[in-house]
Amino acid sequence: MLLFKGENGQGKSNLLEAIYLLAIAKSARASTDRELVRKQSISADTYSRVAAEVDRNGDSLRLQVDFQSRLTDPSNTEQDGEDDSPSYTDSITVQKYFRVNGAPRRASGLIGQLNAVMFSADDLDLIYGSPSVRRRYLDILISQLDPGYLRSLQRYQRIVQQRNHLLKSLRVGSAMPAELEFWDEELIVEGSCIMARRITTVGRLSEVAGPIHWRLSGKGEALEVIYRPNVALTGDATAESLARDIRGAIEDRRQRETAQGVTVSGPHRDDLQVLVDGLDAGAYASRGQARTAVLALKLAEADYLKEQRGDEPVILLDDVLSELDAGRRAQVLEHLGAYQQTFITTTDLGPIEGRFLSEMQGSLVVNGHVEPMGPDLAVQDGPSKEGLKG
Ligand SMILES: Nc1ncnc2c1ncn2[C@@H]1O[C@H](COP(=O)(O)OP(=O)(O)O)[C@@H](O)[C@H]1O
Ligand SMILES: [Mg+2]
Repeated sequence: MLLFKGENGQGKSNLLEAIYLLAIAKSARASTDRELVRKQSISADTYSRVAAEVDRNGDSLRLQVDFQSRLTDPSNTEQDGEDDSPSYTDSITVQKYFRVNGAPRRASGLIGQLNAVMFSADDLDLIYGSPSVRRRYLDILISQLDPGYLRSLQRYQRIVQQRNHLLKSLRVGSAMPAELEFWDEELIVEGSCIMARRITTVGRLSEVAGPIHWRLSGKGEALEVIYRPNVALTGDATAESLARDIRGAIEDRRQRETAQGVTVSGPHRDDLQVLVDGLDAGAYASRGQARTAVLALKLAEADYLKEQRGDEPVILLDDVLSELDAGRRAQVLEHLGAYQQTFITTTDLGPIEGRFLSEMQGSLVVNGHVEPMGPDLAVQDGPSKEGLKG
């Protein structure tokens, strides 16, 4: 295990985020690629790069994400306009490019090369947040196993966009209803593939998460993860029966769709339900219970990736250990002891037991730089700040 200690704002999360970016081809926390490029140095023609050498099953892989900024409005060269016109930096967009062993790839060609699971303080959103948070969790997990799934999702998103556009045109009478048929079929084909994959994944994930949660909760509480599709399932969940179900939902909701001008049926509206002892965790779980459920889901994500890939994901624990009580912290670290590479960030060593520290290799993160911390973490002065100043 690799431990990164540093005060707030020194760059610990940035480091883990960079690793995660190479795994999932997007940021864990930033909503736009622009936020990933150093703000002070962004200009009309900035390059930034995140790259790593990955050793997998004896093969060496070089993964790389390049960011290039461009001026979208070349006439706008004012550094800071005093009027209301968009500022110079507002008209810069950032585009990202991927490479594997030097060869250009699409996002679906990068994802899956390096598998990773990120634990962060935002994970509670998996329980209390909106369905989109849970869809994202599921989509990232499946995409890491199956780049075809990511391509399917990307096509599906474009279909929904085009279909929404058409529904709006229909509303104002500038398109013919027959044009919708084409997009209905596209939606059904991609949508049923996505749903089929989500169903099998959630089924297995729930099986893997159950026993982990049972142990973590300490009082044998049962965890279940249930797929809640936006479309009623009537058959045996094969691609054919799912296609029929989506078609049925589209027909039933035709009027609503044309009235609202948006696509209301399909997996872009799916959800996952997390049950603790049979109760919906989003509504009933205490914060402690939600935290345990989230840990179980994340550990299950790692175990599931390992099981499916026959290869261990890299584990990224961003400042989560200090939030846990000692018992749960020990259980998590013991569970992760079975993984070859775990990156842990923390502001202080105090909460981490000596027997775990002695297995860790420590580094200090100071102002964006990483420096080695000395051979034996267990004999360091715990939470003191000596290391940072010395
Ligand atoms: N695009 C950016 N440009 C410049 N600074 C940034 C950018 N994104 C984040 N930062 C800064 O990087 C610093 C380190 O952040 P972070 O990795 O979250 O710290 P830590 O996890 O160690 O508390 C923060 O001060 C943050 O404001
Ligand atoms: Mg942080």
